[in-house]
Amino acid sequence: MTRKPNPLFQLTRFALMGIPQNAVSSVDVTNQCNLRCHHCYFFEHEQPENLAVERWRQFFDKLKAEGFPFFSCSWVGGEPLMRQEIIEMGSRYFRRNMVVTNGTIRIPDWPHVNFKVSVDGVEARHDRLRGARTYQRIKRTIRDAAERGLRIGIATVLTRENEGELEQFVEEWKDEPLTAGIIFEFYTYMEGQPEADALWLNYEERDRVIDRLLVIKEKYPKLVECTRHTLELLRSENCRSVTDNCLAATKMLSLDVSGNQKEKCILGPKADCDRCGCAVPFWLRSFDDMDPETIGKMFGPTAGKYVKYVRPLRNLSRRLNTRPSIQPPQPLHQITIEKAGNS
Ligand SMILES: C[S@@+](CC[C@H](N)C(=O)[O-])C[C@H]1O[C@@H](n2cnc3c(N)ncnc32)[C@H](O)[C@@H]1O
Ligand code: SF4
Ligand code: SF4
Repeated sequence: MTRKPNPLFQLTRFALMGIPQNAVSSVDVTNQCNLRCHHCYFFEHEQPENLAVERWRQFFDKLKAEGFPFFSCSWVGGEPLMRQEIIEMGSRYFRRNMVVTNGTIRIPDWPHVNFKVSVDGVEARHDRLRGARTYQRIKRTIRDAAERGLRIGIATVLTRENEGELEQFVEEWKDEPLTAGIIFEFYTYMEGQPEADALWLNYEERDRVIDRLLVIKEKYPKLVECTRHTLELLRSENCRSVTDNCLAATKMLSLDVSGNQKEKCILGPKADCDRCGCAVPFWLRSFDDMDPETIGKMFGPTAGKYVKYVRPLRNLSRRLNTRPSIQPPQPLHQITIEKAGNS
């Protein structure tokens, strides 16, 4: 296991240098999945061959020799728990690990890993999107993992279909034995996906859902993991400044099942950046802005309090390093009309 560096030292370094290259990584563990969710970005692209575990080991060793930071990794897929040997080996290289799983497979006893189980609405909605009878199975998986003391939370994709039951969904999960909360994301529009128009929440609709999420967060601060700043960045007036300069595309290493860098980002080339609801770029920007709540979630409450002393360094460093944006942002209303056509 890699040695833990001092979080306050890391924070000062972030303030001066910004997010280091490749601080965040993702690995597509397998090209297999036992579900076929209607919204899924993964199966919108042809998937290459899975890399053997030994080849992954050699690859990580090579990165290590080159000084790769191995800060944090999200293990995704396909269904990552269908190839546990890859995560078992690979997670030892990283300081932080998150496995995102569909919850249909027993969660392994990995206390060093954070698990996020995907739950996409109340039972009927979830089962329509993810497959019949998956919801109850997932609930059992989560309870079983919590009983074994594992670190477990939920990842939820909000769509035009399930947003109406958001409050009901939260009430249903608030008393479940989660050790972490719910990360809410929004459906990212996938070009050519049959249900894309039915799932995508346009900007005005998304703004209203964000208002409701903030009310829910006020009521259940621990349950809603998205930080206030991250949600504010997702608003229509702010989102283009995040996605036009996407830190997920520029700072993150996203590997496909063959160990190759994915085209564009974790979501692949068909994801529409103008209609992106992926949590990653918004979290990264929030972190880059040195938002105290976001920093606190990453490095702990002490670091969150310390932020105010180092943030001026961040502002100064940004001013000194400001370069003009390559493409000036297109006004949002044009995108709504030309592309979404559903506002
Ligand atoms: C591709 S899945 C892989 C991990 C695992 N099979 C699962 O479903 O949790 C990773 C996460 O991406 C989410 N996701 C899939 N397609 C998406 C899309 N178009 N927009 C936003 N999130 C999406 C899934 O709901 C899931 O939480
Ligand atoms: S379970 Fe995950 S990888 Fe499988 S289809 Fe659903 S979202 Fe995609
Ligand atoms: S789809 Fe989203 S995460 Fe991917 S490059 Fe575009 S803005 Fe970034």
